[in-house]
Amino acid sequence: CLWVRNLRQKKRLPGPFAWPVVGNAMQLGQMPHITFSNLAKKYGNVYQIRLGSNDIVVLNGETAIREALIQHSTEFAGRPDFVSFRMISGGRSMAFTNYSKQWKMHRRIAQSTIRAFSSANSQTKKAFEQHILGESMDLVHVFLKMSAGGQYFNPSHEFTVAAANVICALCFGKRYGHDDTEFSTLLGRINKFGETVGAGSLVDVMPWLQNFPNPVRSVYQNFKNINEEFFAFVKEKVMQHRETFDPDVTRDMSDAFINGIEHGKDNGLTKDFVEGTVTDLIGAGQDTMSTLLQWILLLLIKHPHVQVRVQEQIDDVVGRDRLPNMDDKAGLAYLNAVIYETMRYTSFVPLTIPHSTTSDVTIEGLHIPKDTVVFINQWSVNHDPLKWRDPHIFDPSRFLDENGLLDKDLTNSVMIFSTGKRRCIGDNIAKVEIFLFTAILLHQCTFESDPSEALTLDCSYGLALKPLHYTIRTKLRGKLLTPVS
Ligand code: HEM
Repeated sequence: CLWVRNLRQKKRLPGPFAWPVVGNAMQLGQMPHITFSNLAKKYGNVYQIRLGSNDIVVLNGETAIREALIQHSTEFAGRPDFVSFRMISGGRSMAFTNYSKQWKMHRRIAQSTIRAFSSANSQTKKAFEQHILGESMDLVHVFLKMSAGGQYFNPSHEFTVAAANVICALCFGKRYGHDDTEFSTLLGRINKFGETVGAGSLVDVMPWLQNFPNPVRSVYQNFKNINEEFFAFVKEKVMQHRETFDPDVTRDMSDAFINGIEHGKDNGLTKDFVEGTVTDLIGAGQDTMSTLLQWILLLLIKHPHVQVRVQEQIDDVVGRDRLPNMDDKAGLAYLNAVIYETMRYTSFVPLTIPHSTTSDVTIEGLHIPKDTVVFINQWSVNHDPLKWRDPHIFDPSRFLDENGLLDKDLTNSVMIFSTGKRRCIGDNIAKVEIFLFTAILLHQCTFESDPSEALTLDCSYGLALKPLHYTIRTKLRGKLLTPVS
């Protein structure tokens, strides 16, 4: 009855006291996901905070997150209408727009195109693997060159170029050299993208800060410039594709999007959605992948015995006369365990892109109104002490059973690609990429830390947690192999 409904609607979600004007902004700290996990101990897994003028619901722990994103998948599939989100991909982003019939169509086209270029059949699988193989071996050469004379160097930029090249090869049929300064400058600038759109970023929840000449204002301006510059780069490539487009020959993903979006029937998407989608894929595919590669390498030089164990298994399974490929994946359980443990332990995408509710919804008995901003704390799932023994310890062997095989139930419990209607659409290609990059790098090279440098796991916060500056040195293991196609 109405009376009961009103009563239920009035029941406030639990949560910390919110100060006037700023709400809980000053309490977020350097690492909001840790603050959110600590608040969950006090207020439960579903609670509310206030940032500026926005009430925000924070979801923690596997049960509450799955109840929301799977059982109430449509209700939690929205994105907030943030000013920064509208600046992305010329306003034609799929990742940063709200749930709608048009968005569903957009996501379906993006998903099927990714599949068509990575896993549709054995030929596309092979072509995709060849791109990664080429980039991995290029990295080996660049790393060896940078280590000449025993020098230490920071690998972060080279990983960014390598990851961007894989996705650019899919989207444009083109890669860029590690010494292409124009491409490098562009990538260096979009590296900052995640600081603005990560959950807990204050620019969108306190838009009034823009009216003051303060750092938040310059963050907005800078974010706008980054997006425009990146969008212009993609637009130029897509224009070239349009000019030479042949409906009978699909050269790459840009052609596929021109075909599906511009020439597709009744999808409600205008032609500028082509550039928007390509920008989304390059942005999402490049930053996450290069960050994960940086974390894996950092953890391997911090735990040299883990690196040795991975290499021993690679030598056993692959041998020294050929490079690893995807057929080796099942045999390299320990390498897979290292990858999953890196994703779990770092939880380097600690909160998903912010969600919003598309209608009123009740979760764990608590009422959440339509259009509420929702933060999803993936870190809390991966560090739940009830699920993971010593969650704060890096221990890849937790994923192996007594026969040394990968425990699939456990690997499926790692939450890094989110779940439900907004789940990452690049998860499969990310898994192939990360496996091949690490297997090939570790087959060919050994990585060492600089003994004069303190190795910390400190990181900067944003959509992705990025390790701070660290340096490595690379040594060749045996002979340098040439990829065979
Ligand atoms: C969304 C993680 C690689 C494309 C997401 C989200 C996460 C994520 C957490 C947000 C989900 C949500 O809001 O609930 C990752 C990780 C990656 C990775 C950890 C690598 C290890 C990729 C790659 C691509 C990609 C390689 C594409 C080539 C996307 C897109 C979305 C997305 C388009 C937006 C989906 C939507 O809003 O419907 N990813 N991602 N990602 N990802 Fe990934």
